[in-house]
Amino acid sequence: MRLVVTLLLLHLLLLLAACTGGSPTSTGTVCPDPDPGTLTYDNFGKPFMEKYCTWCHNSTLTRSKRNGAPLYHDFDSLMGVLQTPDHIDQQTGIGPEASNDFMPPERCPSEPGGALVVSCAKPTDEERRQLAEWIACERNRPHTF
Ligand code: HEC
Repeated sequence: MRLVVTLLLLHLLLLLAACTGGSPTSTGTVCPDPDPGTLTYDNFGKPFMEKYCTWCHNSTLTRSKRNGAPLYHDFDSLMGVLQTPDHIDQQTGIGPEASNDFMPPERCPSEPGGALVVSCAKPTDEERRQLAEWIACERNRPHTF
C-alpha cells in the first residue's frame, strides 16, 4: 500500500515538473516600493531590446520582413514596449511565479528583417529577472505619450 502511494506521489511530481516547462505565465514581479529607479529604458530596456528582440519586433519592418513576429509587438521604442508589457513578461521574464524563456526563439536574422541564419543571442537568467523588474517599474512611471 505504501509503495502504491509513493509511486502515485512520484507520478504527480513528474506531472507537475512537466507542466511548469509549459506555457507563458506572468512572473508576478512587483516593482519595489519606492521604485529604486536603477533600471531605466536608457540603461537597460533599450539595449536589452536591441540585443535580443528588435531583429523581428520592429516598427520599421513590414509584415513579410518580421519573421513571424506579430504586428503591433514593436519593441524599438519605449511606447511600443509599454503597449504589451504583460506579454513581454510572460514570454521572456523570470520572477517569483514563473521562468519564461519562450522569446527570443532559436533562429535569428543577422540584420533586422533578414533571413533566419544565426542562433539568437539569449538573455541570461539575471537579465530576464531584470527585464521583469524593469517592466514592473517602468509601467508605473510617468510618461508623456
Ligand atoms: C527571430 C524573430 C524573433 C525575435 C528575435 C523575437 N521574437 Fe518574439 N515573436 C516572434 C514570433 C515568430 C512570434 C509569434 C509566434 C509565437 O507566438 O510563438 C513572436 C511572438 C512574441 C510575443 C507575442 C506573444 C503573444 O501572442 O502575445 C511577444 C510578447 C514576444 N514575441 C516578445 C519577444 C521579446 C521580448 C523578444 C526579445 C527578448 C522577442 N520576442 C524576440 C519572433 C521573434
